[in-house]
Amino acid sequence: MLIDTYGRVATDLRVSLTDRCNLRCTYCMPEEGLAWLAKPELLTDDEIVRLVRIAVTSLGITEVRFTGGEPLLRPGLVSLVERCAALEPRPRLSLTTNGIGLARTAPALKAAGLDRVNVSLDTLRPEVFTALTRRKRHQDVLDGLAAAREAGLTPVKVNSVLMPGHNQDEAPELLAWALAEGYELRFIEQMPLDAQHGWKREGMITAGEILASLRTRFTLTEEGTGQRGSAPAERWLVDGGPARVGVIGSVTRPFCAACDRTRLTADGQVRNCLFANEETDLRGALRSGATDEELAELWRAAMWGKRAGSGLDDPRFLQPRRPMSAIGG
Ligand code: GTP
Ligand code: 5AD
Ligand code: SF4
Repeated sequence: MLIDTYGRVATDLRVSLTDRCNLRCTYCMPEEGLAWLAKPELLTDDEIVRLVRIAVTSLGITEVRFTGGEPLLRPGLVSLVERCAALEPRPRLSLTTNGIGLARTAPALKAAGLDRVNVSLDTLRPEVFTALTRRKRHQDVLDGLAAAREAGLTPVKVNSVLMPGHNQDEAPELLAWALAEGYELRFIEQMPLDAQHGWKREGMITAGEILASLRTRFTLTEEGTGQRGSAPAERWLVDGGPARVGVIGSVTRPFCAACDRTRLTADGQVRNCLFANEETDLRGALRSGATDEELAELWRAAMWGKRAGSGLDDPRFLQPRRPMSAIGG
């Protein structure tokens, strides 16, 4: 079991497969990209499968999500999914992706054992997409989403970040579209995890503002107490339900007290929190011959040290050294 000193138990593992990405979202990384990890620094497929096996057999992990950067850029993703789906006990498997290339791979991912996907899409306007992501790939994302739905990678969730000067007025339009398409939409507050360190609290669109904007066109009712669980998204029923919309208010409505996550970076470091700097080097231990039990013990120790909260409300808050694309979202 992965338990911390506050009694939280991590059952959800997020595995970053690469720090690279084929988009350049302005809230994430600069136009020129970043100094990517070199191939030998990345965990190999065998190393990933071994660590996931330890996580599900010895540490109580029941959910495994592959993230990035952009995880579809990792060669061999389908076989990785297949190998993780063959583990006993079988973890639930999901993927967080920008959707580019998903149109081609969704059926194979489903056949390999992937259960569901979350796709990032911030806007329905192609020109706004190009400005926000600095790439002309809007249609690829829409096609990827449709393919995921057809392949049964459901529920398909859509993650949207609202950015002033780009898509700040698009929330109702995005929700109307998601309802019509059958996707579960979640809005994410912009977090101070960008490589450029450009985040400012004053420049961020808050969960409260997003909800107010949605309420100009929809009736939102609370789902009821206890529904959020450990999920970062708070959900509301739209026009009486059953359709829902979520808001992930990491900054203004943090869910740290219920956090059930542990993370593995693409270069094999365990992180116990998105916002903490501490990392535990499983890759080094693994490559110098550690046993499964030694690796499990290192992982337990990494999680034991998890702090109470993100520290975002502390005036001394400092952004973590690594950006979100290198940590895994
Ligand atoms: P499900 O609800 O299981 O579908 O997944 P999810 O919402 O946890 O996953 P997803 O990868 O779609 O993440 C959505 C947003 O939540 C991203 O912006 C993540 O960075 C953010 N998020 C995920 N985990 C954490 C976390 O531990 N802390 C905070 N503050 N944000 C997180
Ligand atoms: N703040 C909030 N969300 C972010 N994402 C990437 N960077 C940030 C940030 N700084 C989102 C992506 C994707 C999800 C995994 O995280 O848009 O939907
Ligand atoms: Fe790529 Fe995701 Fe960062 Fe956008 S937010 S540049 S899709 S890693």
